[in-house]
Amino acid sequence: MKVGVLASGEGSNLQAILDRVHGRAGVEVVAVGSDKPEARALERAAAAGVATRAFPLAEHADRHARDAAMAAWLAGAGVELVVLAGYMQLVDAAFLRRFPQRVINVHPALLPAFPGIGSVEQAVAYGVKVFGVTVHFVDEGVDTGPIILQRALDLPAATDTQTVRNALHPIEHDLLCEAVRLIARDAVRIDPANPRRVLIAAV
Ligand code: GRF
Repeated sequence: MKVGVLASGEGSNLQAILDRVHGRAGVEVVAVGSDKPEARALERAAAAGVATRAFPLAEHADRHARDAAMAAWLAGAGVELVVLAGYMQLVDAAFLRRFPQRVINVHPALLPAFPGIGSVEQAVAYGVKVFGVTVHFVDEGVDTGPIILQRALDLPAATDTQTVRNALHPIEHDLLCEAVRLIARDAVRIDPANPRRVLIAAV
C-alpha cells in the first residue's frame, strides 16, 4: 500500500512511520508533503529517500487550489492512504473525495473531547485526570471522523502541557503505526449498520 504523509512541523510521527512501517507490512511511504517549506518533517523524509514537496498557501490562489494541487501530487505518486501526522490545516471536501475513507489523522486527545488546535492545553486547563490519543478517519468536520484507535493515559497530577505532550508522543507513534498496518492488511471497515463506528477485523 502506497502511503502519503502530510505534516506541518517536527515530524516525530512521520519518523515513527518511516522507522517502523515503511518498507514493511506491505507499506511504502512514497510522498511527504507540507504546508511549511521549513518543516523538519520534510528533512526527515528526504533523509529516508522519500519524495517531498511543500504547498505553502501563498503559492496558490486559495486553500482549495492548494488542496487540489496536493491531491494531484499525491495521486500522481500512486498514494492509496493519506496520513495527517501533525498536519495543522484542514483538508477540503474535494481532497477527501479524491481519497474516500483513505485519510486518517492522529490527535492528542480522547475525542470527542478537546477537538482542534490546543487540545492538550485545553485538557490541562480543564483539569482532566485521564489524557489520551485518537487516530481517526478524517471527514469534513474538525476531528469529527469515525474513530479507528484510541488509548488513554492516566496522569491525575498533570499540570504542565509539555510534560503531557511528551507522555502522549510515544502513544501517538504506536497508534498511528498500528492504524497504518491494520489498513494495509485491509482489517479496517466502517460498520455498515453505523457509519460512525469502525470495525477492526481480528487478524
Ligand atoms: C502531534 O502531537 C499530533 O497529535 C498533533 O500535532 C503533533 C505533531 O507532532 N496533531 P510531530 O510533528 O509528529 O512530532
